[in-house]
Amino acid sequence: MERPEVIINVASSLDGAIASDEGALILSTTEDFVRVHELRNSVDAILVGVNTIIKDDPLLSVRYVQPKEPAPFRVILDTKCRIPLTSKVLQDQETSPSIIITSEGSSEDIQEEIRKLGSKVITVKMEKNNRFLDLEDTLKKLKDQFNIDKVLVEGGSTVITQFLDKNLVDIMYIFYAPVFVGVKNAKLLFEKEVIHNIGNALSFEIRAVEKLHEGYLVTLKLKKDE
Ligand SMILES: NC(=O)c1ccc[n+]([C@@H]2O[C@H](COP(=O)([O-])OP(=O)(O)OC[C@H]3O[C@@H](n4cnc5c(N)ncnc54)[C@H](OP(=O)(O)O)[C@@H]3O)[C@@H](O)[C@H]2O)c1
Repeated sequence: MERPEVIINVASSLDGAIASDEGALILSTTEDFVRVHELRNSVDAILVGVNTIIKDDPLLSVRYVQPKEPAPFRVILDTKCRIPLTSKVLQDQETSPSIIITSEGSSEDIQEEIRKLGSKVITVKMEKNNRFLDLEDTLKKLKDQFNIDKVLVEGGSTVITQFLDKNLVDIMYIFYAPVFVGVKNAKLLFEKEVIHNIGNALSFEIRAVEKLHEGYLVTLKLKKDE
């Protein structure tokens, strides 16, 4: 396989929200956190979008279980180097190096500041429509430059949507917390305009459904186009 294996993991409400417009909603239970940290411990890199860093400032480390050595890389998709220099993934260099994926157009000065804090910065191509960083190029560079064979994509909505939309996902885990939170201003699990014909929906095979404490863990595989 040319690209690394891609796993998505996300916690969602029953009505499909993964965060409010202000930031994180704690949807996982302790049992689910343990599962997520075991999953983190089994991959080479944990990847999120820059908005998740700006909104939640996560450490993206392995806790709850004995961390393996070396710890997984922390990878941030950040076209314009908007990541705050004070963020935990840049300030904490003991856990593992962070890799900031950016575009050629982002500020060299900020790239240098990030490197000075001990993180890596690499540039990748933009997508043809210039909207986002090219995910295939990103995955290829993670594999070629850092020997990353397995990536855990944790969010947020935009990043998950892009990986699904580009068919770059091998397996997806959704932990459903048994709550409705209202989705009017929520960040959703999948943020695309509604389709009018179910035949055009992104469809999955359900591999497993498992009760996990108060919630449900669903394991899915994308049905690839014939
Ligand atoms: N419930 C959960 O399991 C969970 C897990 C993680 C996060 N979250 C929540 O998700 C929310 C953030 O979600 P979000 O949708 O606002 O932002 P996000 O997915 O964290 O970050 C999206 C940003 O990443 C950058 N990016 C660069 N290349 C990209 C690409 N190819 N595909 C997608 N993004 C790319 C873009 O910013 P630039 O254009 O500036 O590069 C884009 O706007 C947070 O509130 C957080 O709490 C929930």
